Amino acid sequence: MRNINENTITLAVVDSMSATKDARLRTVMTSLVQHLHSFAREVKLTEDEWAKAIDFLTAVGNITDDKRQEFILLSDTLGLSMLVTAQNNKKPAQCTEATVFGPFYVHGAPEYANGGDISNGASGEPCFVSGRILGVDGSPVTSARIDVWQSDQEGFYDVQIVPTSPTTPEHRARGRLRSAADGAFHFRSILAEAYPIPHDGPVGELLEALGRHPWRPAHLHFMITAPGYETLVTHIFRNGDKYLDSDAVFGVRSSLVADWVRHEPGVAPDGTRVSSVHYTLNYDFVLNPVDDA
Ligand code: BEZ
Ligand code: FE
Repeated sequence: MRNINENTITLAVVDSMSATKDARLRTVMTSLVQHLHSFAREVKLTEDEWAKAIDFLTAVGNITDDKRQEFILLSDTLGLSMLVTAQNNKKPAQCTEATVFGPFYVHGAPEYANGGDISNGASGEPCFVSGRILGVDGSPVTSARIDVWQSDQEGFYDVQIVPTSPTTPEHRARGRLRSAADGAFHFRSILAEAYPIPHDGPVGELLEALGRHPWRPAHLHFMITAPGYETLVTHIFRNGDKYLDSDAVFGVRSSLVADWVRHEPGVAPDGTRVSSVHYTLNYDFVLNPVDDA
């Protein structure tokens, strides 16, 4: 393998991987090399641009730690995360659509009974959320595991805020519930607000250079699991949000946009008196059965 030139290099690299034992790895790496080389040829990549790309990826790696995942952010903002989600979550039309997972799920969130207040000290106007977990035929899914997480009124997740007091609960505006015998669930929380994805790093610089904003429309995250059904990872977006048509990570689906109804102070759905403006949201989730075939 000598005297390789710009016309023979692609085949040489592909041939060099011919002993790969893992057939899938070989398929993926062959295609990756072919597309990378085609890209470099198509844009006539200069040495300076190549060096800039290496610097950029180095910065993405340097800012990444156990709390900040800049590579996922990069994938999200380039639409790769949503593409992978979409092509791996094809379901019958009546099922709830999936969307991106995002970086703010954490393990170990508190368990709540139905009716519990998952805000746990997070700030925001009260929001009462209810719905049902259903199968495609409309039958209730009992005891489904419902994970929910969201931003507060400033657009921050708990993991993004350094607590000011040692008594501040670790997990705020996130929790785990189970659907009841009739598939229903309900909880109290706070109104989630739109927020910019973390943009103080290399991905933020790239967005700026591309003339893009970093905002996501207000949403609640849900992950729903139940035996016999595919796990559903999705969001419910707030109708009317000004970023619904320019989500920085391309995650909005019309079927996931719902009305968060505003109410004057008064009696809330759970029978308690609320002295401030508050909101209600009702949404039913339809799970896709696992294909046993
Ligand atoms: C989120 O919705 O939590 C999220 C998704 C992608 C990137 C950043 C945040
Ligand atoms: Fe989010």
